[in-house]
Amino acid sequence: MHSTQDELKKLEGEAEDGTVLLAETQYAGRGRLTRSWLSPAGGIWMSVLLRPTWPKSHQILALAFATAVARAIRAVAGVSPLLKWPNDLVVQSRKIAGVLAEASYDGSKLNQLIVGLGLNANIKTTLFPEELQGRVTSINREVGREVDRILLTRRILEETDDAYLRFESGEASELLHEVKRLCSTVGQEVEVTTVDGKFKGEALDIGEDGQLIVRLGNGATVPFYAADVAHLR
Ligand code: BTN
Repeated sequence: MHSTQDELKKLEGEAEDGTVLLAETQYAGRGRLTRSWLSPAGGIWMSVLLRPTWPKSHQILALAFATAVARAIRAVAGVSPLLKWPNDLVVQSRKIAGVLAEASYDGSKLNQLIVGLGLNANIKTTLFPEELQGRVTSINREVGREVDRILLTRRILEETDDAYLRFESGEASELLHEVKRLCSTVGQEVEVTTVDGKFKGEALDIGEDGQLIVRLGNGATVPFYAADVAHLR
């Protein structure tokens, strides 16, 4: 398939809330910030279309989705990824999965969200370009054996569905605590890159809408909604 994200976008007029698209491989997988996403056979490449009824930011929903995926990986494969803000899952600082959240708003109301998940399940990390080799990992690299992708996918769907329903029924506070607990960015010295430039400071917290709250060098506390983050220590 080209990209589950793009194929689902084509169906958006007719696709119901909760529609899932999975691909065995993608030849035009996309990551955040217009990066390409390597998607050979052996990974879990999927996109989910959501039409939330509550007027929340998409960033918090994407973080909750990533947290639910981390929970599924822990349960099925015995690997415990942390969250790197905004939407990466990492194991000892190496990326094992990424989430791509593409939203459309009606004014300030979140209308529709397509959440893409790229999870390096049974992927040889030698397939990645040289410059990425030290920064990526996969489940089979971590545990030394292949994971059952059907079991893992089923668990991911259960956990993400549960997270979504908790938001929909206004019972997400526990989930938000889990997001904060899993987030390895909080407490770090970070460099935040936005369209307005680069900012250095200490990541203090994650706000209710999923924004990263950073105390900059000049003492100002600033929320970042859309940005790329590097951990400096
Ligand atoms: C990231 O940059 O970390 C997000 C990566 C998201 C990749 C997934 S794979 C399934 C879906 N289809 C795509 O083209 N991208 C997402």
